[in-house]
Amino acid sequence: MTQGSRPAWPTRPVIVAGNWKMNTTPLDASLLANDIADATGVPGVTRVICPPVVCLESVSRALADTDVEVGVQNIHAQPFGAYTGEVSAPMVNMLARWAIIGHSERRRDQAETDEQIGRKLLRCAEFGLRPILCVGEHLDQREAGRAEETVRRQLERIMSMVEGAAARAPDDLVIAYEPVWAIGTGRTARGSDAAQMAQIIRRELAQHGVPNDAMHVPVLYGGSVTSSSIEEFLAEPDIDGALVGGASLKVDEMAGIVARAGLTAAARGSI
Ligand code: PGA
Repeated sequence: MTQGSRPAWPTRPVIVAGNWKMNTTPLDASLLANDIADATGVPGVTRVICPPVVCLESVSRALADTDVEVGVQNIHAQPFGAYTGEVSAPMVNMLARWAIIGHSERRRDQAETDEQIGRKLLRCAEFGLRPILCVGEHLDQREAGRAEETVRRQLERIMSMVEGAAARAPDDLVIAYEPVWAIGTGRTARGSDAAQMAQIIRRELAQHGVPNDAMHVPVLYGGSVTSSSIEEFLAEPDIDGALVGGASLKVDEMAGIVARAGLTAAARGSI
């Protein structure tokens, strides 16, 4: 292929992150992490596993000799204090490199607000965790034609927390677009809708002081991703990978998803 006919693939990395949610114990987590690492060794794909916080140590140990990275599923908005049962960024940053922030299950179950989520982003920057910031609309919002407005407003409120003079947005931000109605339901968004939302997300970020060019912010799709449905999303140049829930607990599924991600990485010339 000549230089001129080469498609203009973005230089963004390709990322597959597994969110194990409230599944596994320290013992079986390390075995599963090992098996996933063995089954997903595909060049050019950044792999991240986010186990429950009590499994961080065993999973970090299990993955120590691999290039699979470890993340937490949440951090508190404050670094220390009287917050019974909570876990903060400085407590985990020796064990994890990544943090999922603002997952819709936490918005739903812990009533997390965009303002709290914004503060969590600040903690990520402060304590060296790479955030995967989740945004996404509910079904009624999509059906009412308000999906775009919903996601833009989430980002606007979150980013306004990090725009102050003393605040610093993480310079390695990753966004996960996760339509709430697609999470754990077996329903997925259409690839073209997710790609359109990724463009909207980058446009919105560009207006809110993202430290690096918003065009370089990876946008992942999340919501019932499997080895069969991943194709539709990774066929879209605006989508840079996936945040995978249920399927990330299955070795074969992760192998299939990462193998497909490897094709995208190769096409982008990132390997
Ligand atoms: P799911 O979860 O893949 O099970 O739909 C995705 C997520 O919650 O990040």
